[in-house]
Amino acid sequence: MTESSEKRVFIQTFGCQMNDQDSGKMLRLLEGEGYRGTDRADDADVILINTCSVREKPEQKVRSLLGRFRPLKENREGVVLGVTGCFAQQAGGALLRQFPYLDLVMGPDAIPRLPALLLDVQLGGARKLATEQLDRQDYPFTNDLVFRDGRKVTAFVTIQKGCDNLCSFCIVPFTRGREVSRSADEVVGEVRRLADTGVREVTVLGQNVNSYGVKKTTEPPFHELLARIAEVDGIDRIRFTTSNPWDLADGLIDLFASEPKLTSYFHLPVQAGSDSELTRMRRRHTREEYVELVGRLREARPDLALSTDIIAGFPGQTEVEHEQTLSLLEEVRYDFIYSFKYSRRPHTPAMRLEDDVDGPTKKRRLADVQGLQARITRERMKAWEGVTAPVLVEGPSKRDSTWLSGRISQNWIVNFAGPERLVGSTVDVDIETAFSNSFQGRAAGVDAPRTSPLTVLQ
Ligand code: SAH
Ligand code: F3S
Repeated sequence: MTESSEKRVFIQTFGCQMNDQDSGKMLRLLEGEGYRGTDRADDADVILINTCSVREKPEQKVRSLLGRFRPLKENREGVVLGVTGCFAQQAGGALLRQFPYLDLVMGPDAIPRLPALLLDVQLGGARKLATEQLDRQDYPFTNDLVFRDGRKVTAFVTIQKGCDNLCSFCIVPFTRGREVSRSADEVVGEVRRLADTGVREVTVLGQNVNSYGVKKTTEPPFHELLARIAEVDGIDRIRFTTSNPWDLADGLIDLFASEPKLTSYFHLPVQAGSDSELTRMRRRHTREEYVELVGRLREARPDLALSTDIIAGFPGQTEVEHEQTLSLLEEVRYDFIYSFKYSRRPHTPAMRLEDDVDGPTKKRRLADVQGLQARITRERMKAWEGVTAPVLVEGPSKRDSTWLSGRISQNWIVNFAGPERLVGSTVDVDIETAFSNSFQGRAAGVDAPRTSPLTVLQ
C-alpha cells in the first residue's frame, strides 16, 4: 500500500488506564485493516474520541471537542467521526440525535466490532449505534491486541471488566457493565509473552481487582493470580489497580509480606472519612475497618506507599463529615491522593439524593483536602532524601535524553543521569532532591553530568 492510499486514524483518549488500553486495542484492530495511527486530527480519515463519564467535566470536554472536529469532517469527504468509551455508552442514541454530523457511537464492549462498524459507515453511509453490553463470563478480552513495540519496560494487563459494587456515586457499573473475570491462564499467558518482549513490570487492571474470580469459581482468587504472575521469569515487579477496601482478602495482605515482586504501593480508594458518608456512598465498610486494614497492610509491608481517592461535597456532606475526611488524611498520611468535587451522574443511586452542597462550598472543601494533602505529600517525599532505593529504569527522561527516568517500588518517579543501556534494569539510586511529584537522584557508579533539567525548571 502506498503512503497516499493508506487510511489514517486519530484517537483522542480521556479517562483511566482502562481507556488507554481500549484505545490501544482500537488502534491495533484498525492497523489490521490497513490503517495507520496519526497524532493529527486534521490529517485523519477516522477520528475517534474515546471518552470518560465518571465525572461531568470530561463529558463537557467531549462536547466541545465534537464542535471543534465538525469542520474537519465537513471540509473533507469521507471522514468518519466517532465517539467511543463510557460517555458513548452512557449517552447512546441521544448523542447521535444531538450531533447530526456524528457517524458512530460505540460503547466499550463493542470494540471488537469496530472495523465492521466503520465499514458499514463508510460503505453504507449509515450512522451506527453500538452500545450492547456483553456480560457473559466468556467475554472476549482481546487484550493481546494492545500494541507491544518490544521496547516497553512496563505494561498493563486487563484481568477484569465491569464492576458489581454499585457505590452510590459511581457510573462505572452502568457504563462498563457487570463484572467479568478473564481466565487466569489467559492472563498468565499474556504476562509470559510480555516478559519475552522485555517487559519487566506489569500493572494488573480492573475496576475492582479484589473481587477477581469471585463470581467465576473456576478462577483462583486475586492474590493467587498475582502469585502465579510472580512466577513468570523476567517479571520483576507487579502492580495492580483498583481495589475496593470492602473486597480486600487476607490472602492479599499475606502476599505483601511474602512476595517481593509485589511492589510497595497500594491505591486504596476511601472516598470519605466519616461512617455516615461511607454509608450514603454504599461503601460497605466503616472508617475504623479501613484504618485497621491500612494498619495490617503496613505491618505486612512496612515501607508501603498508600494513595487514595477522595470525593468532596458528596450529597448531604456536613462540615463535621468534611472535617472527618481531613482527619482521616492526617491519620493515614497517604503518600498521594486523587481528589474530586462530587459530580452528579445519571443512572447512579446517588441521583436520588439531593446534590445539596453548593458550588463554593464544594470548591472550598476540595481545596481544604488538596491543601492538607499537599503538605503531607511534601513531608512524605522529603523523607526520601538521602535514601538509596532500587529504580526500575523505564526510559530516557522526557526533558533530557541523557537522563533516565524510572520508578521506585513505591511508584514515585526518579530522574537521574545515566546511559540508555540501563533501560529495563533495576539500578540503586541515591535520592537527592524531592520535587512536587518526582525525585532527582544519582546512580552509584554513574558519572553525573552537568545540571539536571529538573533543577533548571524548578
Ligand atoms: N474502581 C474504579 C473507580 C472508578 S472511578 C477505578 O478504576 O479507579 C475513580 C474515582 O473517581 C473514584 O474512586 C471516585 O473517587 C471518583 N468518582 C467516581 N464517581 C464520581 C462522581 N460521581 N463524582 C466525583 N468523583 C467520582
Ligand atoms: Fe465504581 Fe465502586 Fe465499582 S467506585 S468502579 S462502583 S467499586
